[in-house]
Amino acid sequence: MTQKSNPNPTAALVEVAKIIEIELDTCIKKCNLPQHLEEAASYAVVNGGKRVRPALTLLCSEAVGGTLDQAMPSAIAVELIHCFSLVHDDLPAIDNDALRRGKPTLHVKSGEAMAILAGDLLLPVAFSQLICEQYSHEQQARLTKLLATATSDMVVGQVYDTIGGLPEHLDALQQLEEIHRNKTGALIRSACQMGAVCGNATPEEFEAISTFGSATGLMFQIVDDLIDLHGSAELVGKATGKDEEAGKTTYPGTIGVEASKLAVKDLQKQAETAISSLNGDAETLSSFNVWMAQRTR
Ligand code: IPE
Ligand code: IPE
Ligand code: MG
Ligand code: MG
Ligand code: MG
Repeated sequence: MTQKSNPNPTAALVEVAKIIEIELDTCIKKCNLPQHLEEAASYAVVNGGKRVRPALTLLCSEAVGGTLDQAMPSAIAVELIHCFSLVHDDLPAIDNDALRRGKPTLHVKSGEAMAILAGDLLLPVAFSQLICEQYSHEQQARLTKLLATATSDMVVGQVYDTIGGLPEHLDALQQLEEIHRNKTGALIRSACQMGAVCGNATPEEFEAISTFGSATGLMFQIVDDLIDLHGSAELVGKATGKDEEAGKTTYPGTIGVEASKLAVKDLQKQAETAISSLNGDAETLSSFNVWMAQRTR
């Protein structure tokens, strides 16, 4: 995972994902929930996601000289928001999906009411992770603000994606970018920025990580659009070929497959350039970014 020319982040990601999975499990168990709600929350969270966002938090902290221990509560918080967004994204009223992370979606398994409520639960559980001894009061305030803003942006993006109402002065490509930057890019950027805050980044480092996060966040959803078009449900763990059928506004649908692939390449380079002058260890972050551009699941 440390060779830019021959990126092998898979092994490192698997390793990080294992640690994250254990932390997420502990976090849900500590909530002392009624059994059926605990089961639903665990089903939504402790279920083998790729853990891209928490990995980014950990790697961005590392890239500015921070430790894993400092970054972990923020990594968990971001992943909990992501899991909540997936449970609600899959609901019949939104994307109406029956498969997630290779298993029936939560509403298929436990009913719509439980899926809505378990999703709701993950929101406060996420924010409460930030109130911990690893963070100074100033860090807690900054992390809370970053995560809150990204979560609202995600909801705005989901509204644009599902209901519409995009600003009319934007042209088609700008509208598409607006959906993707909000529904997916914002949380990924905040995962990166929170890592920077955990690692006590200088203002310049924070700026560099923010630029990295914006580029890689938009890139992530373009790749997701491409995977929906060409991926196999078996490998991806969720239904594919659904965006077109559902009339979704996507990159390949709007600018074509080749232009989408070029956009991915361009954003990957933008992200790489942004972190090239960081003082900490950004090697892994850089090769992880390459993997995110090339991923097939
Ligand atoms: C899927 O995210 C939803 C998007 C915002 C594109 P991931 O591809 O990170 O899904 P998991 O967490 O690995 O299941
Ligand atoms: C999801 O976008 C964005 C979220 C906020 C969850 P998609 O609807 O494209 O994600 P998938 O393809 O269902 O994972
Ligand atoms: Mg969706
Ligand atoms: Mg969806
Ligand atoms: Mg998708």
